[in-house]
Amino acid sequence: MNIAAVDYDGLIPNNVGLGQDVRVKHALEKWHPGYISWWNDMGPEGFQESLVYLRTAVSVDPKGWAKFDYVRMPEYRWGVLLAPAVPDRKIPFGRHKGEPAWQEVPGEYRALLRRLIVIQGDTEPASVEQQRHLGKTAPSLYDLRNLFQVNVEEGRHLWAMVYLLQKYFGADGREEAEALLQRRSGDADTPRMLGAFNEKTPDWLSFFMFTFFTDRDGKMQLEALAQSGFDPLSRTCRFMLTEEAHHMFVGETGVTRIIQKTCEAMKEAGISDPYDIAAIRKLGVIDLPTIQKKANLHFSLTLDLFGNEISTNAANAFHSGIKGRFREDRLKDDHLLESDTYPVLRLVDGKIENVDAPALSALNMRLRDDYVVDCNVGVGRWNKVIEGFGIPFQIKLPSVAFHRHIGEFQSVKADVDGNQLTEAQWAERQGDFLPSDSDREFIESLMQPETEVGKFASWIAPPKVGIDNKPGDFEYVKIA
Ligand SMILES: [Fe+2]
Ligand SMILES: [Fe+2]
Repeated sequence: MNIAAVDYDGLIPNNVGLGQDVRVKHALEKWHPGYISWWNDMGPEGFQESLVYLRTAVSVDPKGWAKFDYVRMPEYRWGVLLAPAVPDRKIPFGRHKGEPAWQEVPGEYRALLRRLIVIQGDTEPASVEQQRHLGKTAPSLYDLRNLFQVNVEEGRHLWAMVYLLQKYFGADGREEAEALLQRRSGDADTPRMLGAFNEKTPDWLSFFMFTFFTDRDGKMQLEALAQSGFDPLSRTCRFMLTEEAHHMFVGETGVTRIIQKTCEAMKEAGISDPYDIAAIRKLGVIDLPTIQKKANLHFSLTLDLFGNEISTNAANAFHSGIKGRFREDRLKDDHLLESDTYPVLRLVDGKIENVDAPALSALNMRLRDDYVVDCNVGVGRWNKVIEGFGIPFQIKLPSVAFHRHIGEFQSVKADVDGNQLTEAQWAERQGDFLPSDSDREFIESLMQPETEVGKFASWIAPPKVGIDNKPGDFEYVKIA
């Protein structure tokens, strides 16, 4: 079988030989109507009949796996796609290091694996739910198309996790697959599993920040799971990562284009002080301090997704060969970590200090550190744009102690530099760090849809290049 080619003949496109796997094929076909009804209820509101210029994976070959065409979203060919198997792959870390990678679920790690797959799976439909109202206020057809591309791919990521549950976890896998369609982002009774996925994505600046910061957490988790000794999970995540790259592109370039437009407008109006907020807002663009506040919010919410800095679960997942570190295969150490230490930021007598902890227990902290490094690369590119205009302002990631709800710093209030504040000081100053009601109202006032071909809302610059190299006047969405 040519593993790179995708079989598009059946109901479910796949490169896993579903045609020969009758039990799993039937299970997925049974799950399919529930998925479609979830998509119709909770997917992009108001655009289900529109023709969207989407890419679909036709091969998992890294070169040229995508084909672009106009598709109605409910007719998108969601499928099960795994990256090609690495011949003779070995478990790369933990106590089973060097043993052949598992092709079936190892019994002793079944519960742990299922839990990790369900948690990852739950985030995928959650983000579609969070973003379902954004179509109505899209700043251009180009952006509308990018939103929908992200949405259909998050839908496919749900399929990816559901395939693993259906194929490898029997009856309880089927139950989990059903439950993934039942939970709802932000629902009081049946919320999604993780906090950041129950927050609102009320406007497009939030959307771009979410895809920059929160999809990047997705990337880090997928990178860690792509190292897994359980080979089907590794191969699934490796292919998902190729899609995830586009989501972060959407986020990073979206914020870049907002910054670009703000700086251009300031220059044209002869405003050099980035804190002259009232004057800048009159130009119909978003002032840089407000962009910083949104970054503070989304960064801090996303840090919570990494869990407790010190974690036995994380240690177990590594030790058992189920979840590795970021790019484990490129790290040069013994991949066991049994006698190593890792510096962890902790709260010691009310002060933030670096404390050496056993490296195995500190794996969440380590992944979070890798995440922060990755974020800073993109933030650096935003700052280059501001610098290019000679405006004295820099976007900065806040301290990891700022605005936290999970881990070491959940019990304290801190400013963006990590200085601790009393409750009263926090109450007085939080509007300096996080979007206030009036900031939100201002952003909301800008969220007017722009649906004319080739046009963009006042507050965002056009992209440098079109999707699939299309010209500026390309009709990315034919609104029905
Ligand atoms: Fe995803
Ligand atoms: Fe994503």
